[in-house]
Amino acid sequence: MPNKKTEAKKVTTHVLQEMKERGEKIAMLTAYDFSLARILDHAGIDVILVGDSASNVMAGHETTLPITLDQMIYHASSVLRAVERALVVVDLPFGTYQGNSKEALNSAIRIMKESGAHSVKLEGGKEVEESVRRIISAGIPVMGHLGLTPQSIYKFGTYVVRAREKAEAEKLISDAMLLQNAGCFAIVLEKIPAKLAEQVTKQLSIPTIGIGAGNKVDGQVLVLHDMLGITYEFSPRFLRRYMNLYNEMKSAVTNYISDVKNRSFPSDKEQY
Ligand code: KIV
Repeated sequence: MPNKKTEAKKVTTHVLQEMKERGEKIAMLTAYDFSLARILDHAGIDVILVGDSASNVMAGHETTLPITLDQMIYHASSVLRAVERALVVVDLPFGTYQGNSKEALNSAIRIMKESGAHSVKLEGGKEVEESVRRIISAGIPVMGHLGLTPQSIYKFGTYVVRAREKAEAEKLISDAMLLQNAGCFAIVLEKIPAKLAEQVTKQLSIPTIGIGAGNKVDGQVLVLHDMLGITYEFSPRFLRRYMNLYNEMKSAVTNYISDVKNRSFPSDKEQY
């Protein structure tokens, strides 16, 4: 008898490839815990990214750099326990793959074994080619990430749009080709001009997933806490807020506090 987890048609890297080929857009969001991952999966999201943005939105760090491999594995395994259908991609955190390809492979293997993830994502092009090839040769699907790569924020110095200049745009195009040739199954394009993202998407046979990269890419990704309006102070142009949960949750908590203080909670019906 099939168990519950095998009943839903699972999204695989091959399914994403087919979606690109038939022009169906890919919807991806981040999640870092069981409860929210379950909502995304039940809603029919294609891809869940356990992003290292957990460093910002879950742990309150300024950047994505401090989060550790153990912490990513904790978040990823919580997400994996919830998911029946979506493809789950887990970020390799800063410092776990840039040094050498053996270390990169070990980090990716730990994520796959200890969380049950379906694939990993890492940032960069030529600089990480050897790591990408080595991870893929072990049978682990890899998603690339180009453009504004937040793990390099101290090199960039700012979160402004990347690759506006010709030289950086040309490097991005050649890195995208290189990642595809190395065997990546998809590439995230973050905060680059829409025209450049369109050009890359046309040149590649694998899917591109954009964040701040216009709508001529194969799919979109947003950070869940941003699109739900929990992180109210962050509002870049590319972000569409589908809710204003910060205000709604705050007012629910305010109401609870006053119900407790004025003794209206619990009522006679809410006790034994
Ligand atoms: O960590 C993350 O959430 C990401 C997305 C912004 C693509 O890498």
